[in-house]
Amino acid sequence: MSILILSLLLFATSFYVSAQNLTAYEVLQKNRLPRGILPEGIVDYDLNPKTGFFKVYFNNTCQFPVDAFKVKYEPTVSGFIRNGRVTRLIGVSVKVVYVWLNIGEVSREGDELEFYVGAASEEFPVHRFENSPQCGCGFYCRELIYSS
Ligand SMILES: *[C@@H]1O[C@H](CO)[C@@H](O)[C@H](O)[C@H]1NC(C)=O
Ligand SMILES: *[C@@H]1O[C@H](CO)[C@@H](O)[C@H](O)[C@H]1NC(C)=O
Repeated sequence: MSILILSLLLFATSFYVSAQNLTAYEVLQKNRLPRGILPEGIVDYDLNPKTGFFKVYFNNTCQFPVDAFKVKYEPTVSGFIRNGRVTRLIGVSVKVVYVWLNIGEVSREGDELEFYVGAASEEFPVHRFENSPQCGCGFYCRELIYSS
């Protein structure tokens, strides 16, 4: 085996290991995205550091409210991640009136996060996603405890 191939292999392996050492939330942060675009309860994830293709695994479907919307994460969520952007997202949907629509892309524009559903998009401040939501109560868990 040539030195070149060997060192390429070593490079690829260390890249893989260091990516796997990070939590999925840290991978988001490394890409300038807030951890709160993924809910708590990630069991495992795969990431191809070369293409940015990832799969995130949860034990169950996860649902919670965001403002007037209901958001749902399937047990497997996949997409492509790169600096400030997740594209070709599959497994995350938002309920609009009676219909669940796939959120296909999330991108960061300065201090705003843009969520795309087809050609339509909705903007939220990045800091709202500082913490990961929990299934069920989402971002409002503490408020629910206070008010009960
Ligand atoms: C990554 O994981 C390996 C094996 O568990 C460990 O030896 C290493 O210290 C970890 N590196 C970091 C940066 O956490
Ligand atoms: C997922 O399920 C496994 C097996 O039942 C359990 O051990 C683990 O704690 C669960 N993880 C989460 C984050 O709920």
